[in-house]
Amino acid sequence: MLATADNDLITQTGPGTPMGDVFRRYWHPVALSEEIPTPGGKPVQLKVLSEDLVLFRDDSGQPGLLGLRCSHRLTSLAYGRVEDGGIRCPFHGWLYDVSGRCLQQPGEPEESSFKDKIRHTAYPCREMGGMIFAYMGPPEKQPPLPRFETLVREDGSRKTDYYPINSNYLQNLEGALDPIHSTFLHMDKWSEVKDAVLARPYKDVDLAVTEWGVWRRSLLRRADGEDLASYGHFFMPGGFMGIRVAGEPAPIEGAGPVVRKLQSWYVPVDDEHCKRFIAAFVSLAQTDGAEVDLGASREAVLNPLAIPGPENDYFRDYEGVDTICGIPLRTAHDMGSLKGYLAQDSMVNETQGAIADRSREHLGVGDRLLIMTRKQLRQAVEDVGNGLDPRFANPEPDDEGLVRVNGADAMEAR
Ligand code: FES
Ligand SMILES: [Fe+2]
Repeated sequence: MLATADNDLITQTGPGTPMGDVFRRYWHPVALSEEIPTPGGKPVQLKVLSEDLVLFRDDSGQPGLLGLRCSHRLTSLAYGRVEDGGIRCPFHGWLYDVSGRCLQQPGEPEESSFKDKIRHTAYPCREMGGMIFAYMGPPEKQPPLPRFETLVREDGSRKTDYYPINSNYLQNLEGALDPIHSTFLHMDKWSEVKDAVLARPYKDVDLAVTEWGVWRRSLLRRADGEDLASYGHFFMPGGFMGIRVAGEPAPIEGAGPVVRKLQSWYVPVDDEHCKRFIAAFVSLAQTDGAEVDLGASREAVLNPLAIPGPENDYFRDYEGVDTICGIPLRTAHDMGSLKGYLAQDSMVNETQGAIADRSREHLGVGDRLLIMTRKQLRQAVEDVGNGLDPRFANPEPDDEGLVRVNGADAMEAR
């Protein structure tokens, strides 16, 4: 369990909160490049870390992320027009460039220098691997965007994607990190395998603190009795790197028995919502040079009818589906997508409440990874408060110039 004050501390990421200050020391994915495909195209309204923002691609192709409300009289710039080197407010035509400078104020006298005094909220953006990353922290602390291998490697197949989640980032991150739940929540044919599963002795999870966060190796206990190593690392401040080793049952239909890396960023929208951004990568070395189809299209997944939630009972069929909860392993929408188990995972994470009240938990030995993760988050708050850099805010690239969330013993997972 966690004292209420500590729970608030690590779950609240709005402007001016201690954890918000930590998150603002990292680059975060905020959208996919394909959402603003065309220079001058329609702007997109976003919320990130509880801040209302507008994302657009200016007519030179540069992405810009600005405060949503016009500095003049606060109208939404998301209804503006992208033109003339920036975005123009629909109300009185003020024009802002991607750095937040006000280029024009057509309603003011020509000789006025009023526009030069305007500094509209603007956050730097960079594109990598089909994602748009933003840095929302103090400019003097801005690190380079890490060259994550899942986003920049060219020797394999990649898929980037995201989906929205209706609860706090941390409980969803913790759900992904949790090394025990697969054997229960995601176990198919429960009535058949239950006796064997319940009779197995406890096996410890290997954990180590690393430069990125926490390294984890656990055993994935399959229904056929075979145990396979599974890696699920925490990286600061809200990241999960899952490394599926050869032989594991493929969560991606048709991906075959290959090593696959699935890097995820849980990015707070506000304290009660987040987005899970995903970059999946399979190297050609794993597939004898063949490209792998890494999943269904975003449209299929973002179909609101396909998003599991309380309104469709997370697709539960208590009588007809042989899992503990009666929610199927895969629902029609996540066949072949990156979101295997989405309905089951969403149910367990969302039913904890919009922000899980960790003062009421009872954590066991199997939950050590969560305890280590929370400790690192609290340490980061302390570090930033003391003027230090939080862990992994500016990671050192390796010999190949890449940033890997990996472990020496998982290097076969290249
Ligand atoms: S409110 Fe935007 S220009 Fe007036
Ligand atoms: Fe899961």
